[in-house]
Amino acid sequence: MDTHTVSKIIKKISDVIPYTGSFVGVDIGSSSIKIVQLSMIDNDIVLETYGEISNTPYDVGQDPGKTSDANPAIRSAELSDLLHEVDAQSRRCGVAVPLSESFINVIDLPKRDPEQMLRLVPSEVQKFIPISVDKLMIDWYPVKEEESSVFDVLVPNKQTEAHFQKVIVVAVNNDSAYRLGQIAKDSRLTPAFFEIEMFSAARACIHTTETPALLLDLGASSTKAYILNEHRVPVDARVIPVGGASLTQEIGKARSLDSLVAERVKCEHGLSAGSEVRTVIEPALAPIWTYVEQMFEEQKKRESKPIERVFLAGGGSYMPGIVELVASKLSLPVELIRAFDRTKGPIILEHALREDGPRFAVAVGLALRGLGR
Ligand SMILES: Nc1ncnc2c1ncn2[C@@H]1O[C@H](COP(=O)(O)OP(=O)(O)OP(=O)(O)O)[C@@H](O)[C@H]1O
Ligand SMILES: [Mg+2]
Repeated sequence: MDTHTVSKIIKKISDVIPYTGSFVGVDIGSSSIKIVQLSMIDNDIVLETYGEISNTPYDVGQDPGKTSDANPAIRSAELSDLLHEVDAQSRRCGVAVPLSESFINVIDLPKRDPEQMLRLVPSEVQKFIPISVDKLMIDWYPVKEEESSVFDVLVPNKQTEAHFQKVIVVAVNNDSAYRLGQIAKDSRLTPAFFEIEMFSAARACIHTTETPALLLDLGASSTKAYILNEHRVPVDARVIPVGGASLTQEIGKARSLDSLVAERVKCEHGLSAGSEVRTVIEPALAPIWTYVEQMFEEQKKRESKPIERVFLAGGGSYMPGIVELVASKLSLPVELIRAFDRTKGPIILEHALREDGPRFAVAVGLALRGLGR
């Protein structure tokens, strides 16, 4: 396979692509599209505009509590409306790839220089992904960054004792990237890169502590769980089949409510003490704790530092009582991602930006990468 098919679909937090001008992060979620436009002015990351648009009115005939598959023509009409509505002028953008459309695996590979890795990684990827590597965008990075600079040098006719390294390999189906790219292009945007949403969320999660953390993105279609190491680099990820839409459905079924009412009850009362629907929501969230426990076990096996805190992102993080429930289930401190903390916006919006941080984490992370941050 040609080396050019190995593409940069991930970006480590520490990497920098300098770009001058404004840049838009585009997160096409299953319930809404979010965009964030940032620019660099002097040394400040300036928030120029941001906004969200619900998929519901564009998906005529869909239930409001249900998620919808992205039909490219509909999504690009929606994205165009959003860009217009918030007056986002920049044409350069980065687009998030849903974790559910990505393959992620940790594999042991011999240490080779980057050129040789370009040949080695695709052949290894083919062993665990049932799609031809020609149809994939592939990228990788070593789990322990400090080890990455020591490569084995291959000398012809001389046997080299291989040194192995743990490498995280990620791949995205070209069709997914094409569909997302088409949505952006039909909205007159030019995608500079595609990035799996976990890397964008991790970049937006640069909080003060330098310890491993769990990041839970409580979205509409699923919950995404990521383990970030002490450098905020994702080292494990899971898609957990529990999302805001399924919670709404469960509430509707259990209480015989239509989906609009069930959605309202969920958002207003959720898991708060004395909430009638708590007895429906809490059991429905159980798979999250099972998956997370498995991830914590894996973390122990990696002999990595223990996870010391939890960050929440996504719309589900606004559910009354969720912070307390996660804290008690995992016995760790929990906080919402403050994705706009590194950006400079109007003082008058300070409160709104604090509120909106968890929902816009992915879009902020994309825009930060676009600015080389
Ligand atoms: N106050 C609230 N309480 C409970 N759930 C909420 C609240 N506010 C929003 N939500 C839920 O958050 C979900 C939307 O979150 P988000 O915008 O992160 O999803 P998405 O990015 O579109 O979905 P996905 O990431 O799964 O593609 C919806 O299911 C919505 O019901
Ligand atoms: Mg999302």
